[in-house]
Amino acid sequence: MDFELNEKVALVAASSTGLGKAVALGLAEEGADIIICSRDSDKLKLVSEEIQKKETRCLAIPTDLTNYSQVQDLVTKSIEHFGKIDILVTNCGGPPSGGFLDFSIEDWNRAIDLNLMSTIYLCKEIIPYMVNQGSGRIIMITSVSVKQPIKGLILSNVARAGVAGLAKSLCNEFGKNNILVNIVCPGYTQTQRVNQLAIDLSADQGLKPEEMIQKWAELNALGRIATPEEFANVVVFLASEKASHLTGTAIQIDGGLVKSLL
Ligand SMILES: NC(=O)c1ccc[n+]([C@@H]2O[C@H](COP(=O)([O-])OP(=O)(O)OC[C@H]3O[C@@H](n4cnc5c(N)ncnc54)[C@H](OP(=O)(O)O)[C@@H]3O)[C@@H](O)[C@H]2O)c1
Repeated sequence: MDFELNEKVALVAASSTGLGKAVALGLAEEGADIIICSRDSDKLKLVSEEIQKKETRCLAIPTDLTNYSQVQDLVTKSIEHFGKIDILVTNCGGPPSGGFLDFSIEDWNRAIDLNLMSTIYLCKEIIPYMVNQGSGRIIMITSVSVKQPIKGLILSNVARAGVAGLAKSLCNEFGKNNILVNIVCPGYTQTQRVNQLAIDLSADQGLKPEEMIQKWAELNALGRIATPEEFANVVVFLASEKASHLTGTAIQIDGGLVKSLL
């Protein structure tokens, strides 16, 4: 299947590792030019080299996505370099685990900055270009918590519900401009974030981190957690011309973890 991504430019946020990196590589594999960003320029350089081996162009811009002026610079430099952004994949790090009484107001502000405000900053800067060009794809990486809040991840549960509200609102407002907005909801996927969560949460349950990961795997219908590439494949499809009537959805890539009907 030709995903028709050859002439496209994609900005993939928080792409030095994990899900963002897998998405950047997946889109590059299909021929898109890629802008990658995160805070760590050394890691970005390595990812950029990997992407360029796929014979596509890559621009790496160190950015703290919780800082609005840095996001403005990111978008300005991207447009200067490529002249357009067709596809925006929003993403950022996950907030720490814990329950309501564990967190201060500063913790709440940091979590909202990390997951909600970073998404708003990117959309605020990029949507005007998409409106002008009369097309765009926005895919927001959130979590299955937008369908079913996850125990012990209250900061993430709340911040990502805001992202879901943003996605649906943007879908309604900019559909007439041919801008399609969707959410992707990873379940447990093998990345550094999940390895760290397993370390943080396993001791409380008297388990080793690898036993914790196995326990998570058994929560879904497939009995295994996803690879980042399995996740990225769905994002590549959503970014492609093959998904041209798909907007306003929240798609789980969770091996059947969420137990509700929809
Ligand atoms: N993996 C899963 O199973 C899973 C499940 C549900 C939801 N999620 C969510 O999906 C997102 C990605 O997950 P992941 O597993 O890929 O996480 P990860 O392996 O921890 O990667 C996080 C990425 O975010 C970047 N980042 C963190 N803070 C940043 C900031 N302030 N500005 C710019 N970049 C920043 C990191 O790069 P630098 O350190 O270089 O900045 C890194 O590239 C997270 O929000 C996570 O909570 C993951």
